[in-house]
Amino acid sequence: MASLTEQRIILTGATGGIGSELAKQLLLHNCKLGLVGRSEDKLEQLISQLKGEKGQVIAIAADITLPEGRKKIVEQMKTAFDGHDMLINTAGLMDFTSFVEQTDERIEAVFATNVIAPMQLCKKVLPYMLEQNKGHIINIGSTFGSIGFAWFTSYSTTKFALRGFSQALRRELAETDIKISYIAPRAVKTSLNSSAVYNMAEQVKMNMDTPEKVAKNIVHSIIKEHKEKYLGFPESLFVRINAILPGVVDKATRSQNKLSKKFIQ
Ligand SMILES: NC(=O)c1ccc[n+]([C@@H]2O[C@H](COP(=O)([O-])OP(=O)(O)OC[C@H]3O[C@@H](n4cnc5c(N)ncnc54)[C@H](OP(=O)(O)O)[C@@H]3O)[C@@H](O)[C@H]2O)c1
Repeated sequence: MASLTEQRIILTGATGGIGSELAKQLLLHNCKLGLVGRSEDKLEQLISQLKGEKGQVIAIAADITLPEGRKKIVEQMKTAFDGHDMLINTAGLMDFTSFVEQTDERIEAVFATNVIAPMQLCKKVLPYMLEQNKGHIINIGSTFGSIGFAWFTSYSTTKFALRGFSQALRRELAETDIKISYIAPRAVKTSLNSSAVYNMAEQVKMNMDTPEKVAKNIVHSIIKEHKEKYLGFPESLFVRINAILPGVVDKATRSQNKLSKKFIQ
């Protein structure tokens, strides 16, 4: 079990639905947070919401898909907190659409944000962690990273990739004291999901958690140093079934996929 007290944490996606709740939950442990998002206005709003909480926060306005954005994150952590102990890759993009209708530019943007930028940010934070021989990187995945979901094809693909990256990197760093975790929530009520997703979710009775609940579970998993964690039942069971009997899941989801198609954008 790890203590979060005084930990210097980079939190990407901090201004999002899950990220802003994660910031609140992490501060209960008196840590030092670098809050990352692209929008300075949203960061300012978040900082004012967090006033009065324990710990320390800084806002880092940066686009994680750009080299200068990633450089700024590490530099600002160094200036404010003399380095970093933890990276939580929360930033993400999602589309609910027909794969053939999706533009090449959008596929590239979803991949850049959900896979390439987290990988490159890991590369950026790892030299210091290796020097200290301690650190923890947490990649926020999704149930869709273990079960390929129709109409979320590009998004699902990125989360499969993030899961594979987390596993391979964990094995590569096994002889060090650097931990790599992959934590996968099921659907969460945030603005990542468009109104079309909410309408579909209601129709197909998809379970949706609150960001508060998910943030609490993520912090619990970080403290417990879970290597891989799937949040929510029965989704965590479906992940296992899909891994060994994908044909069963093909059959079970066929009618739901037909119904979902009516809602895609
Ligand atoms: N909501 C769900 O149903 C659900 C379920 C399972 C897993 N997840 C995963 O949980 C994570 C957080 O999701 P969420 O629901 O909280 O999403 P959200 O509310 O849409 O927030 C997305 C966050 O990512 C940031 N972001 C996006 N592109 C960025 C970029 N290029 N550079 C820097 N920051 C960027 C956004 O900030 P700015 O726009 O200000 O840059 C925002 O803070 C994602 O990885 C998502 O895949 C979500």
